[in-house]
Amino acid sequence: MVKRSLIIVASAACLASCGGQSNAGKETAAEAITHVKAHGIKELMQQVMEPQAQLFWHSAGTITDETGEHDLSPTTDEGWQATRSAAATVTEMGNLMMTPQYAEGRGKDWLQFSKSLVEIGMKAEKAAADRNSDAIFETGGIMYRVCSSCHLVYMPKEPTPDAATNKPA
Ligand code: HEC
Repeated sequence: MVKRSLIIVASAACLASCGGQSNAGKETAAEAITHVKAHGIKELMQQVMEPQAQLFWHSAGTITDETGEHDLSPTTDEGWQATRSAAATVTEMGNLMMTPQYAEGRGKDWLQFSKSLVEIGMKAEKAAADRNSDAIFETGGIMYRVCSSCHLVYMPKEPTPDAATNKPA
């Protein structure tokens, strides 16, 4: 009963907003787009990209410690869901990085790296949805190479230490 009334409410909302009527005099979403830049690129990497990629990378393969070899594959439904969500997040991060707020001022290769991230992210998500550990391991490796390719070009270089001038006083 509750479910049914929810569906009715949802379709009423759609009638009001999704109707095919003329948009004359009405601003469309595309015209009204305003991104709020909530994270600079560095924070985006630290707070979203890195933790989610790490979660994905730690979802396949094995680690060996003093108690022996351990399979890293998730063992619960929640664990598999977390792996899948991580892949989905990395995928959408690629899309986000193609928006003007992150792509402005970058070269065309920025868009290519970001697109590659979306493409491998989709495969990674499928691997997680299929609970296919081999495919998670494999797509994780390719994902890592996409991250590294962009960093090779766009990661700010550390100031190169100069032996002549950087000697401690
Ligand atoms: C399209 C380009 C691009 C892709 C793809 C990309 N990054 Fe980055 N990443 C950057 C840039 C640019 C920086 C440098 C940010 C800065 O310091 O200004 C960075 C920095 C980082 C940092 C260092 C942040 C710090 O503490 O200084 C980490 C960690 C990171 N990225 C993780 C990842 C991971 C993981 C992936 C892949 C899943 C990835 N990145 C994919 C562009 C990219």
